[in-house]
Amino acid sequence: MSRFDRIIDRRNTNSVKWDTKGIFGAEDVLPMWVADMDFPTPDEVIEALKTRANHGILGYTMPGSDTEAAIRGWLKKRNNWEIDSSSITYSPGIVTALSMAIQAFTGPEDKIVIQPPVYYPFFEMAKKHKREVLYNHLRLTSDNRYDIDFEDLEEKLSDKMTKLFIFCNPHNPSGRVWRKEELIKIGELCVKHNVILLSDDIHSDLVLFDNQYTPIASINESIANQTITCIAPSKTFNLAGLQTSVVLIKNDTLRRKFNAVQELYGLMTVNTFGADAMEAAYKHGEVWLNELIHYLEDHILFIENYIKEKLPEVKVTRPDASYLVWFDVRYLQKSDEEIMELLLEKGKLALEPGSKFGENGAGFLRMNIACPKETLKDGLDRFVKALK
Ligand SMILES: Cc1ncc(COP(=O)(O)O)c(C=O)c1O
Repeated sequence: MSRFDRIIDRRNTNSVKWDTKGIFGAEDVLPMWVADMDFPTPDEVIEALKTRANHGILGYTMPGSDTEAAIRGWLKKRNNWEIDSSSITYSPGIVTALSMAIQAFTGPEDKIVIQPPVYYPFFEMAKKHKREVLYNHLRLTSDNRYDIDFEDLEEKLSDKMTKLFIFCNPHNPSGRVWRKEELIKIGELCVKHNVILLSDDIHSDLVLFDNQYTPIASINESIANQTITCIAPSKTFNLAGLQTSVVLIKNDTLRRKFNAVQELYGLMTVNTFGADAMEAAYKHGEVWLNELIHYLEDHILFIENYIKEKLPEVKVTRPDASYLVWFDVRYLQKSDEEIMELLLEKGKLALEPGSKFGENGAGFLRMNIACPKETLKDGLDRFVKALK
């Protein structure tokens, strides 16, 4: 029995994922949609939170040198990436950081490049800021993975008005970890065309099946100077509710611009509990994380066998990282609305429709598998019941 097998009831906890009535119009759906996990955070994190609560004073907080050392130590240990403390800055969340970056690095006439299908706030946030979005569509390969159309990417990056490229590594929704050769090309193109590269690496601690993740800013000095890297303990250790993320900006000029927007919105301090939790997670969470990674790998192998046996028409994209599985259900020849209706009404199951990630995601579904095995089996039974 794994520690991740324990089922914890999350209903009536103000959970975005589980208290679904307002979202799906029903309480009895099994939620396998938004990306948080049904696992408790490591014990050491809970202990750190208790220590802070027992201290009882929850005043304004700025992470100190111990927290910075924990972040640096974590990146060095996990990714062999050495960063300077001066490059560390904070944000409540990565979506907030995206928004601040758009404001800091683009003006009203500027354009932003993204690669759909991709995490939808990338384009939604750009549109909310009324920036023009250029779409470098990812291409589906014959083995049901995505690759990059570099010719098209260069065309979009070379547009004089393109100032920012929002990139996702590992990629959400497909779980692709980009190879070093691909990252070098991307970095070099951004340097060549002087486009700021925001690399959202929030899923990078969750690399599966011995895949190799490289932080793009670790490749060389010129790429590092062009890059803003977003990381967080939130996906890794299930701490999203604590609203504490890290934005790494080596280039002083870029960091000053970003800091100016943080100041504009009064976002220079961090959540007191979030800072303590982050420090404890990065210092003590590795054993827990390694166990989690194995647990998720077993889930994925189970899903592949289950689907092959029960619904072989569905193509499963094996994620290189994280806990989101991308299913190709285009054989159904139904719209995403029709598929969602089937899932919700016949299966009582909530997934993310592919079109939410961009038009070229239509006919796909994203399932969040970060749940105990029993819940996963239940979800797969519902999935097959709805689509068969
Ligand atoms: C790629 C990516 N970026 C950002 C986020 C959200 O980050 P935050 O909750 O810190 O805003 C998610 C959540 O699923 C994500 O997948």
